[in-house]
Amino acid sequence: MQRMKSQVQINRKENELGMRILVNCALPYANSSLHLGHIAGCYLGGDIFVRYNRMIGNKVLFVSGTDEYGTPITIKAESENTTPQAVADKYHREIEESFRAMDISFDIFSRTTYREHTEVVSEIFLDLLNKGYLSEHEMVSPFCKECNRFLPDRYITGTCPYCGYDKARGDQCDNCGKTLDPKDLINPVCIISGTTPEFRETRHFFFKLDLFQDSLLEWISSKKNWRSNVIAFTKNFIESGLKERPITRDLSWGVPIPLKGYEDKRIYVWFEALLGYISAAKIYSESIGDPDYWKQYWTGDARSYFFLGKDNIPFHSVMLPAILIADGKLNLPYDIPANEYLKYNGEKFSKSRGVGFLVDEMLKVADKDYIRFYLTSILPENGDSEFSVTEMEEKVNTELISKYGNLIHRLTSFVHNNKISLGYPENPLGADLDILHKAESSFNEYRRMMENVELKKALKTWVELVQSANAYFNESEPWKLIKKDPLECAEKLSVIYVLCSYLTVMIYPFVPSSASRIWGSLGRKSGIEKSGVKELSHKFRNLTLEKTNPPFIPLKIANDNPNSLDLRVGRILSVKDHPSADRLYLLEVDLGDRKIHLVAGLRSQYRPEELVSRSIVVVSNLKKAKIRGETSEGMLLAADDGTLTSFLTLPDNIKPGTSVDLGKYSFNGQNVVEIDDLSGFNLHVGTVNGDAEALASIDGTDLSLNVNGVPVRPERDVKVGAKIK
Ligand code: 2FM
Ligand code: ZN
Repeated sequence: MQRMKSQVQINRKENELGMRILVNCALPYANSSLHLGHIAGCYLGGDIFVRYNRMIGNKVLFVSGTDEYGTPITIKAESENTTPQAVADKYHREIEESFRAMDISFDIFSRTTYREHTEVVSEIFLDLLNKGYLSEHEMVSPFCKECNRFLPDRYITGTCPYCGYDKARGDQCDNCGKTLDPKDLINPVCIISGTTPEFRETRHFFFKLDLFQDSLLEWISSKKNWRSNVIAFTKNFIESGLKERPITRDLSWGVPIPLKGYEDKRIYVWFEALLGYISAAKIYSESIGDPDYWKQYWTGDARSYFFLGKDNIPFHSVMLPAILIADGKLNLPYDIPANEYLKYNGEKFSKSRGVGFLVDEMLKVADKDYIRFYLTSILPENGDSEFSVTEMEEKVNTELISKYGNLIHRLTSFVHNNKISLGYPENPLGADLDILHKAESSFNEYRRMMENVELKKALKTWVELVQSANAYFNESEPWKLIKKDPLECAEKLSVIYVLCSYLTVMIYPFVPSSASRIWGSLGRKSGIEKSGVKELSHKFRNLTLEKTNPPFIPLKIANDNPNSLDLRVGRILSVKDHPSADRLYLLEVDLGDRKIHLVAGLRSQYRPEELVSRSIVVVSNLKKAKIRGETSEGMLLAADDGTLTSFLTLPDNIKPGTSVDLGKYSFNGQNVVEIDDLSGFNLHVGTVNGDAEALASIDGTDLSLNVNGVPVRPERDVKVGAKIK
């Protein structure tokens, strides 16, 4: 155990030094409810990182707040027929509550409409003006004659000049991520009146971003620890040339310009929201009665982290650093661990488009820690990732509950039931020593990953250690040892106890509430965040454990969208005889984005020329199968009434690859279903308004197979009630 001891001493030393870590999470707009995409995008990562740092003894300040000014809020107010203030109040409250429910442990969740925020912004604005970093001149800006006002960027949409996306906004293209100027848009229109704006002169302040080109490039080149996508994006952005940027707007909802004569203009929301991190830290400092506290986190050798989604990268890696360099008093970002997007059925989560799940919705069916655990396992750290309810159930139920939860419960019940007294393993040998070394090295590996903000990998290290710990438990066979050699048995269980302690400390940042509870059931008296790491080297003696319940309840989410069949329209390209089965054909089928091969039992009913170029319906996510030696990559749906067989079809103008829905349900399942899963749908032919249609019945309700309401029908007159298979 020598190595373990020395390792722990190293930890102690770092703890005594206690680095100061400032963690900022992007300020969400106070204009909509939080969805899981927000959580996975930055807040969960921020919170895990914060909890880890607090646990190893660093001093942390964790801030965020709502971004309440600007057009995202006024547009929402207009659509809800209320005031921007009312929108901001409502969503600030709701968002803060959702974060609390998800155990996101901000020290402060601020608001940009606080007076102190206006003060910070005014001060920095005037400072930049005095130092000559702002210029003031006329610019042309879109003006809507219909609405009789200048149009803020977000009130304009048009085609992106870079990628051609036709719903780009005046400030940014959601498709390619480029920041835009309304002038850049092709065919701009006002979102309120729908008319083409004209461009008129108006006077504004500009931040001379171009002056910082060289210092920013030099700064970014020194960043070795950053994610490669963030560096690449930023370098590219800077190298493509920085221009001065207008930082005021013709608008009434925003931070006022602290100068006479500008009463009808406001500071641009992005310019001031970025300063929301500073104002939040200041407000927090006031609240703890130590007004200068924030300086410890914004100056000196403190490290500042900015967790955000990829569409926010240039604001944090270019704009904010430039403002900070210009201001000259505060630290630049130490790291910007930006995430990519969380997707659902291939689309980015979005409340307005109804894609994915809201936080509050998911919390009704799954514990916060289950959501946190699963989201961590799929964090879009280096690329987009896909959310799936079924995968969530599976990951949580196996990795968290069966493997870890059961290990804890096996240990605590065995120790309790057999009245075993545990003691810190002083002189472990053989397998005992090996597994303790393994725990120690996993913990070190985990720490390296956490410090690099590679949270998904850190979790993977934990999963592997859980596996090793379970293997050790099984190989130790304490249920046999207890009779043969009770002392040896107690020693083995003590080793398992140490392993469980490591595992619980390591999982704490991810599932804080569960880990705290489990820490208690391991007989630990002091809090895991504060003492967990120190307690790993605590020389416990004569430790007994209380009787406990299994630490987790399995996760079961009722699926209210029953369609797990990925049904697609296919077009038959060619038909060949199966070489070794005289009832089967081999079909080549166009599925839009790909061609597949199917084996189909239509040979006794159709001649090849009756099939070629016809539209069919294919179960495209059926597990691949070999049928009499030939691979079938899916299944063609056909109705069979005992005498006649008929394939199912759709009008020829429907494109191959188009999805076929079951009633109102679009496909919402896994990549692969098994042939047995089909029987649950009771696919059959029925009549709807007197015509034969393909139906599925689920829980006694018949649902039509259809493409946008166009029904799938058997190609021939098979009897009603014919089975589809
Ligand atoms: O994209 C957004 O949701 C912005 N409200 C993020 C702002 S981050 C910073 F500027 F505060
Ligand atoms: Zn674009």
